[in-house]
Amino acid sequence: MATLLELNNISKSFKGLKAVNDVSFSVEEKSITGIIGSNGAGKTTLFNMISGVFPPTEGTVIYKGKDLASVKPYQYSSIGIARTFQIMKPLKHMTVMENVTSGALFGRRNIKSAKEAEEYALEILNFTGLYERRDVLPGSMGTPFKKRLEVARALATDPELLLLDEVMAGLNPTETDDAIELFRKINERGITILLIEHVMRAVANLCETVVVMHHGEKITEGTPEQVMNDPYVIEIYLGKEDETDG
Ligand SMILES: Nc1ncnc2c1ncn2[C@@H]1O[C@H](COP(=O)(O)OP(=O)(O)O)[C@@H](O)[C@H]1O
Ligand SMILES: [Mg+2]
Repeated sequence: MATLLELNNISKSFKGLKAVNDVSFSVEEKSITGIIGSNGAGKTTLFNMISGVFPPTEGTVIYKGKDLASVKPYQYSSIGIARTFQIMKPLKHMTVMENVTSGALFGRRNIKSAKEAEEYALEILNFTGLYERRDVLPGSMGTPFKKRLEVARALATDPELLLLDEVMAGLNPTETDDAIELFRKINERGITILLIEHVMRAVANLCETVVVMHHGEKITEGTPEQVMNDPYVIEIYLGKEDETDG
């Protein structure tokens, strides 16, 4: 297995607050890797550094052997990194189909016409279970479908690495199972997934490796079974599993 993404001692400070402190780990090609940790642990900040929202204050992010410091934000989808946002950001005045089509147009596929983009969008809508809702506005859908739309838009850019930020928050058990199945199918397409998730059942089900964050630091890394049986993890995180939003 080759390494797709490598974080080397990355830190991020916001006006003196160290949101992420000296974190290193790598993500293997075609794997599903999880990041867990309580609110404010620095998980979304990690995603922001990987997806080009801002660079690390210290350390490097290496993607396919290339230092991302040299990549401009608008080049991200063309290098194959796509993400969802914890705070959902659909294009409100565009239909579900148009949202996904815009993802296709800005993606890695060398799409040459609106027709081609629409055809690809329809495939993604089918794949993500949104086909029936293609003509509605995102605001008219409930949370589970809005989350799916976030995933569909990211997927439409044809990524190699998909970053999912708490896309299962607020789903009921059946919806969670459907989401787990969708992420498996995405991974079977050859897409590497890095996911931030509070839903432990999903993490245990999907991830080969889990990274545990606490107060900006990586405290451990291992298989879901290893980390869930780690006394320190249980103490700081699993012991207060009811505080799950945010
Ligand atoms: N853009 C920002 N400006 C200032 N502080 C931020 C910013 N983003 C995150 N933080 C702070 O960094 C810490 C980590 O936040 P975040 O990465 O969102 O945590 P998590 O996703 O694990 O809940 C928090 O204390 C948060 O308030
Ligand atoms: Mg977050």
